[in-house]
Amino acid sequence: MSDERPIGVFDSGIGGLTVVKALRDLLPNENLSYLGDTARVPYGPKSPETVQRYAIELAEMLTKEKAKALVVACNTVSSVALPALTEKFPVPVIGVIEPGARAALAASRNRRIGVIGTRATIRSGAYEKALQAEDPNVHVISRACPLLVPLIEEGLLGDDVTEQIIRRYLEPLLEDEIDTLVLGCTHYPLLTGAIASVLRRQIMIVDSAQNCARAVEQMLDQESLRAAPLNNGSLHVALTDSADNFLNVARDALQLQFGDIEIRVLS
Ligand code: DGL
Repeated sequence: MSDERPIGVFDSGIGGLTVVKALRDLLPNENLSYLGDTARVPYGPKSPETVQRYAIELAEMLTKEKAKALVVACNTVSSVALPALTEKFPVPVIGVIEPGARAALAASRNRRIGVIGTRATIRSGAYEKALQAEDPNVHVISRACPLLVPLIEEGLLGDDVTEQIIRRYLEPLLEDEIDTLVLGCTHYPLLTGAIASVLRRQIMIVDSAQNCARAVEQMLDQESLRAAPLNNGSLHVALTDSADNFLNVARDALQLQFGDIEIRVLS
């Protein structure tokens, strides 16, 4: 038995394409339908109630297209809306927080873990909760990095200005002797190189995209939802507003192939 229905992946914008890239690499036979809410990005500064409402609208669009599972490719949505989505939709819902937290615990030796993300993600305390649920003795130091998303969207991935800002944000985490850093925003994997060059010592960088893809693979097996092994997986990308410069940044940095973008206007 195989299931060729698409996996619905959504994000506040285009950052979730880092998760799509990880899914494509790990599960090339799966059909993916990506929906980015470019009309309303960023979600990071918004209230949990607003983010929940937006997330439910996006998930409704994807389930109407018969998505067999929902992947919340956004830390902000995962940190405030996962219980509401899981309750409302009859398909498996996978977020990025728990897979990232588990990978961080597996990587850390000194149990001092840094987390960076948007204001909403950090304010929610979702990573602390997920990490401490697994290990109550873990020390977590979190920092909101609101300037990173705009810098990434401008394509300033290797720019001096970006490096200076990363340095400023990461300084307190380094002083706190973290040995593992969670990139708690789906945009941040695009800055892995710049972040690694700022980290002075051996610090493991945990990327939510790859860990989320592994969690999706596990879930597909558990729920018997895999597409046929020889299926040539497709990728459909829809956005709620016309694509801007960042789509080119993401496409180039991630080397993702997709055809025409569908624009889906929100009612
Ligand atoms: N993709 C979002 C996340 O992972 C960041 C962008 C936003 O603020 O909407 O948190």
